[in-house]
Amino acid sequence: MVDLLSLLEEAGDKPLSGAVIGRRLGLTRAAVHKRIARLRAQGHLIEGAPRIGYLLKRHSDRPSSGDYKPGWGRPFHYFETIPSTQDAAKLAAAQGTPEGALFIAERQTAGRGRLGRRWDSPAGGLWYSLLLRPNLAPSAAPGLALAAALDWARLLEKRGLPARVKWPNDVWIGRRKLGGILTEMSSEADRVQWVVLGIGVNVNNPVPKGLLTPGVSLKGAKGKNWSRADLLSEWMARFAETYAGYLKGGFPTIRKEFERLSLLRGRDARFELEGRGVLGRVLGVDAEGRLRIRSGGREQTISVGDVRPA
Ligand code: BTN
Repeated sequence: MVDLLSLLEEAGDKPLSGAVIGRRLGLTRAAVHKRIARLRAQGHLIEGAPRIGYLLKRHSDRPSSGDYKPGWGRPFHYFETIPSTQDAAKLAAAQGTPEGALFIAERQTAGRGRLGRRWDSPAGGLWYSLLLRPNLAPSAAPGLALAAALDWARLLEKRGLPARVKWPNDVWIGRRKLGGILTEMSSEADRVQWVVLGIGVNVNNPVPKGLLTPGVSLKGAKGKNWSRADLLSEWMARFAETYAGYLKGGFPTIRKEFERLSLLRGRDARFELEGRGVLGRVLGVDAEGRLRIRSGGREQTISVGDVRPA
């Protein structure tokens, strides 16, 4: 069903009366009034004049359903508070929801990261899960997270921030983590059924202190508030293209860019290898997106695990 914000967006510069909105959304005038008040409280600038109606003058920085190209970001599910967008997306995936569905939350109470870690998700960040149904072998799916991280680094680079990808799927600025990607999927033996990319980026939110990996937000890095709506719509547009290329040509289509923006390439780092902590030099990534390292005089590739700059 259309939501009130989308209705106001569609109307453009034509005011919509409470009665018309009520009819379209099946609400009483009082309920319309309440929802308008809620949108204003979220920061949307909505003008209202008696007998004329309501007019959306300016969005808050909150992403909304009209921001993406056709087929992406629809259905659009926005939650004020939810345990984890990842669970909502996985449930929808199992129920047959189409590719491109987007689940986004103002805050999560049980956000989770890779390797079972907790992911703090207070208001002001971008916490979202994107449902994909790629025609790929299961072994090629993890590369989608590398692609997603790369598109974040590229869009921030364009905005003057030295963001880097840290294998496998983090985005860092300097020595601090800005965001990360959690990939969950369901597959048959040789084909992926669905992938949910769960993406968390610290934007205007406070970043908790004392994390295992020190964190940073965009606001902290640049000293200003950012529009989450603009950031997400640009990422969605970029990723739609990167994804289309990846479906045709796999990881080689992004390998060069991934290496160009790699935090660790040519640097020493610590790895988990077969349960042991190892120190080595990062050489780059191979054609499948695995990390190439030299350690103890031997070149090896790593496909899962944790890596930190030494
Ligand atoms: C990581 O760096 O470990 C990955 C973090 C992924 C966090 C995002 S926020 C949106 C989605 N919902 C979750 O519960 N987790 C992911």
